[in-house]
Amino acid sequence: VERLRVELADRSYDIAIGTGTLDALGDAVRGLSPSPRLALVSNPTVHALYGPRVRDSLTRAGFAVHEVTVPDGEQYKTLLWTEKMLTELLRSRLDRRSVLVALGGGVIGDMAGFAAALYMRGIRFVQVPTTLLAQVDSSVGGKTGVNHPLGKNMIGAFWQPSLVWVDLETLRSLPPRQFRAGMAEVIKYGVIRDEAFFRFLGEHEKDVSALEPEALAHLVRRSCEIKAEVVSRDEREAGLRAILNYGHTIGHAVETATGYGAYLHGEAVAIGMCAEARLAEAVKVAAEKVHERVRRLVELYGLPAEVPEGLEAAALLEAMHLDKKALSGEMRFILPVRVGTVRVNEPVPAEAVQALLSTGSRPPSP
Ligand SMILES: NC(=O)c1ccc[n+]([C@@H]2O[C@H](COP(=O)([O-])OP(=O)(O)OC[C@H]3O[C@@H](n4cnc5c(N)ncnc54)[C@H](O)[C@@H]3O)[C@@H](O)[C@H]2O)c1
Ligand SMILES: [Zn+2]
Repeated sequence: VERLRVELADRSYDIAIGTGTLDALGDAVRGLSPSPRLALVSNPTVHALYGPRVRDSLTRAGFAVHEVTVPDGEQYKTLLWTEKMLTELLRSRLDRRSVLVALGGGVIGDMAGFAAALYMRGIRFVQVPTTLLAQVDSSVGGKTGVNHPLGKNMIGAFWQPSLVWVDLETLRSLPPRQFRAGMAEVIKYGVIRDEAFFRFLGEHEKDVSALEPEALAHLVRRSCEIKAEVVSRDEREAGLRAILNYGHTIGHAVETATGYGAYLHGEAVAIGMCAEARLAEAVKVAAEKVHERVRRLVELYGLPAEVPEGLEAAALLEAMHLDKKALSGEMRFILPVRVGTVRVNEPVPAEAVQALLSTGSRPPSP
């Protein structure tokens, strides 16, 4: 197991990355010296695959494990299901020193983390992320929360985990489409922070897609390092942390305008990264042919690169104004200067965005 540290003063924690490490989780959690009562939160899909192994490991380490399951799906990432979860925690008499273990993808991690933030004004929680997206993105950084009918992720809290336990072997059961979607966030780290990593991804696509352990370990470690570094320097998104939203302004608009469900989040982000790279060239923020490079890598990993045909610019622009990341009325973007460097808060004339997104001006999809 390799450990990375997320430096956040008294809220610092480790990200432990390994292969086949689920059986060692119990000892690691005991190291946090909590009370013997513990909750294990998952969904039926992930529980069927890994629940018993995790439970047994925790039991062997001396914990009385209370299992809580929430149905599988983004539609259950709600206050209602958070409350049901809290009810289970109360019923099982978890106390202030208990730990909550979240086993699953970003949906379980976000909601269980939020429940941990709320329960008795906050108990410790451990992330055991089982999707690529959760391993490289959502489990690190302390953003927890749920969706509301009026917006995604609008209700939540900053609540840092006490440990992130990544077992790369869990990715073997992940549907390939989910794996590719996670790759969009990985590619994002290359574009915003690390040109060498971006090149690595281009050169090792075969190894990565075959889940070759060394390639995978490097990819997850480097992604976590970048996210950890950014979060350590700007936990509450006062500035720097915004670079993590590269590709997300247009990505979110695509998700909203296509009515969540057509695209996975990562797929929409892939489209957003390509569109925003093109925008960077259009407004001359880009100092090199960044769009071409981003698009090639996105396509190499089987991700969509173009805004879908028939999706009107008007619908996308409207969706962007509703985006909490858009400053009041103004169009601001995170734009790449070159691969490895982005600038935040770049003002872009609305007409340039409109021109980019207008069906007529889009290049035909391959
Ligand atoms: N907190 C943050 O900083 C942050 C960042 C990015 C995304 N998110 C959130 O993350 C969520 C998306 O997360 P996700 O992409 O992991 O989706 P998810 O949690 O819905 O998981 C995707 C699917 O894969 C299944 N699954 C999980 N692990 C598996 C495995 N090892 N084998 C087989 N199937 C498995 C799940 O049951 C689910 O059906 C969104 O709600 C998003 O808002 C949060
Ligand atoms: Zn994202």
